[in-house]
Amino acid sequence: MSVLEREKKLHEHYEKVGSQEDNTVTAFDYNLRNLEIDCATQYLTSNSKVLDVGSGPGVACFEYAKIAANVTGVDFAQSMVDFAQKTLTSQFNDLRDRINFYQGSALDLSFESENFDVVTTHRVLIALLNFETQKQALSEIARVLQPNGLYVMFEATIEGLAILNNFRKMFGLSEVSEGGCGDYDRLLFSEKELKEFMTPQFDLVKVHSFGMYYFLTRILQPLFVAPEKPRYDHKLNDVAFKIAKKIPDFENIGHLKGYVWKKRG
Ligand SMILES: C[S@@+](CC[C@H](N)C(=O)[O-])C[C@H]1O[C@@H](n2cnc3c(N)ncnc32)[C@H](O)[C@@H]1O
Repeated sequence: MSVLEREKKLHEHYEKVGSQEDNTVTAFDYNLRNLEIDCATQYLTSNSKVLDVGSGPGVACFEYAKIAANVTGVDFAQSMVDFAQKTLTSQFNDLRDRINFYQGSALDLSFESENFDVVTTHRVLIALLNFETQKQALSEIARVLQPNGLYVMFEATIEGLAILNNFRKMFGLSEVSEGGCGDYDRLLFSEKELKEFMTPQFDLVKVHSFGMYYFLTRILQPLFVAPEKPRYDHKLNDVAFKIAKKIPDFENIGHLKGYVWKKRG
């Protein structure tokens, strides 16, 4: 299948997922998403103007709007935008003056340049299935950020996955594939290539690792529940969330990382 066909399939997948109106289907590992959101909030202030690209059901936007002055969510699936808007009205009506959801593409953001203080992505650019397209989205994010603005990027890397798989191998567990658990594609970043691309425009302020959460949920849980299959809604994952909030990293395990990039002034 060509990249174009795979991208089309992915788009259809997200349109379908959005229409299910269930906010866990864009992050089966909802505890991990909550860790990401918790991590990003430390970069927000009451004056921040925030853009969440690939906002899906809007879960991060609702949390960011509790802190920031203004939050915009953009997603290319209309069904996601509709679901996020519906949740805003039904559950977060008090935040409605501070949040806007739009349909649009990460590859061609319909915002003026230097418009946002903080841009976030949560597992979105890995849905762009070649590095050229990922770079196009990164350039768009750079364009809409203010000088000295922050891009808080929660995306997955090949290097982090290799560390996870080394640990799994050590304990006789099967490898986690790059494709993940869904029946759709994704393309992990090479951290080296990512840094090479970002360095001319950004300083890397911090890399957040979720190693403790990965260790407890991807190594301890499967060993503990075998021969049963591990589950995202296992109580151990809730405990892992609590531990990882206080002790985030362990051995840099896991593909999902939080890169904090500061656009040069
Ligand atoms: C894994 S989901 C994550 C959604 C949300 N960030 C979350 O954490 O729940 C990826 C999201 O990116 C959106 N997406 C994928 N490619 C996109 C693109 N080119 N432009 C905008 N959104 C895109 C999908 O529709 C989907 O909602």
